[in-house]
Amino acid sequence: MWEETKEITEIVLRAARKASQEPISQSEQALPGKAIHWPVECAIGPGLEGAIACESKVGYVNGLQGQLVYRGYDIFELCAYSCFEETCYLLLHGRLPTSSQFGSFRKQLAEYRHVPKTLRLLMSFPVEGMNAMGALRMGTNLMRQEFTFGDLEIAKPDIAQAHESDEDTISSEADPGDKAESFYSFDTTNTVVLTSMEETIAVSGSRKPAKGIRHQEVLQDTSSLDSCCHLIAGAPTLTAAIARIRNGQMPIEPDPELSHAANYLYMMTGRRPTEIEERIMDIALILHADHGMNASTFAAMVVASTLSDIYFSVGAGIAALAGPLHGGANEQVIHMLRQIGGPSNAKEWYAKARARKEKIMGFGHRVYKAYDPRASVLGPLARHLALENKEAQVLFRTAEALEKEVIADLGQSKSIYPNVDFYSGIVYSCLGIPTDMFTPTFAVSRVAGWCARVLEYLKKNRIFRPRAIYTGRLGEKYIPIDARHSAGKPSKR
Ligand code: ACO
Repeated sequence: MWEETKEITEIVLRAARKASQEPISQSEQALPGKAIHWPVECAIGPGLEGAIACESKVGYVNGLQGQLVYRGYDIFELCAYSCFEETCYLLLHGRLPTSSQFGSFRKQLAEYRHVPKTLRLLMSFPVEGMNAMGALRMGTNLMRQEFTFGDLEIAKPDIAQAHESDEDTISSEADPGDKAESFYSFDTTNTVVLTSMEETIAVSGSRKPAKGIRHQEVLQDTSSLDSCCHLIAGAPTLTAAIARIRNGQMPIEPDPELSHAANYLYMMTGRRPTEIEERIMDIALILHADHGMNASTFAAMVVASTLSDIYFSVGAGIAALAGPLHGGANEQVIHMLRQIGGPSNAKEWYAKARARKEKIMGFGHRVYKAYDPRASVLGPLARHLALENKEAQVLFRTAEALEKEVIADLGQSKSIYPNVDFYSGIVYSCLGIPTDMFTPTFAVSRVAGWCARVLEYLKKNRIFRPRAIYTGRLGEKYIPIDARHSAGKPSKR
């Protein structure tokens, strides 16, 4: 698949060999093919550490061995030989595609890249001043309207067909107690019938057939495989558009001839990437696609478990990913490296940061107690890209120097090593992605994992509903406001 970029394959394979030589402590449990008997016994720490929320065949993280597996395939293997589209198919369907399945899947993704209505809606918001992850979250929500039955304008009753109306009920701002909108009553036989895979929506009753839904099945099920493809394909279009709008530029139309990775970079930068850039972007997408029950995946699954839908779930995933303790760390790392200023400053900077008890961005992980395999690949890729980029060269050498300091101090003692976010920012910036779009770029990839896990969970859905241990007071007596003297202080009992 990657004949022209063998040097990159070689970098990945070298990283795989190096990772396999790392000393291995005890192995974490995987139970392939075993029937699980619920309830499962586990010790749970704060932040649900150690909690087992569900069974999954999507992916596996062995934090003690530094191993990451999607559907049985080691991440190094996928980075060396697969591509992001194939990895998405694998995550969603549970197996690698045949060549005809792969062709249809790529075609579907290329078609779904076009989200013109969503972009038009998005551009009516002040995207240039918004948090980029906030804009992306809003964009994925607007995508519902582009694709689904329920939110389609066409599915709403046609006011012209109303039997009667009561325009006087329109609310006035001065009287918020009024009814919110005017009343219309309709002929109840005027139901909307949607015929999928056609360019026409046929409507029974008195409404005329309406045109305008092209190239896509009209869906009632907003948690379907097609909705997942829609989100996987549309997220890069939205992200690139958000980047450009924030930069005072117009969005660029997707190019269906390009791969997912190449098209993303093209829509973002306006330049078709070189084969090396495309390959490295593709690997970065594969590496970020799924990662166990991390915070954003769990957030997406919690939302899905209420039988909300995949668009809302992905929105929740994006919101959770935005935080600096999760996906937001990739942006913080670049700011930190710039602040350090150069490799010779790393030692002193680190000593001061430790003295202030600061957490070092891009290090540490709830699950990995070994080197994160994603950082094992992204580090050498960052080095490769930085060879011809002076600013990135300084950032990379600073990162290497900082890594040495952190590992010498916290590696053995606290099992703290670089995580996926430590080198990804250097890679992204060499590929022309602006710093404020690093975390949205993470989301562009992770949407595949969110979708795969939500689809899997919904097959045996049970609403998530953990408990908290109540440590507050009981038996308080209500005191009228005028009788409260020491505000905020607990009453004497
Ligand atoms: N720098 C310095 N010390 C650290 C770091 C770090 N980056 N991470 C953890 N530690 C220390 C903590 O201070 C704590 O020490 P203590 O036992 O003396 O109190 C110990 O290691 C355990 O740390 P916790 O914060 O309890 O670990 P937790 O599993 O809750 O957090 C997390 C994991 C959030 C990733 C944490 O390591 C962190 O904040 N890292 C920096 C932010 C970051 O890089 N996030 C991206 C993670 S990857 C991802 O989400 C895609």
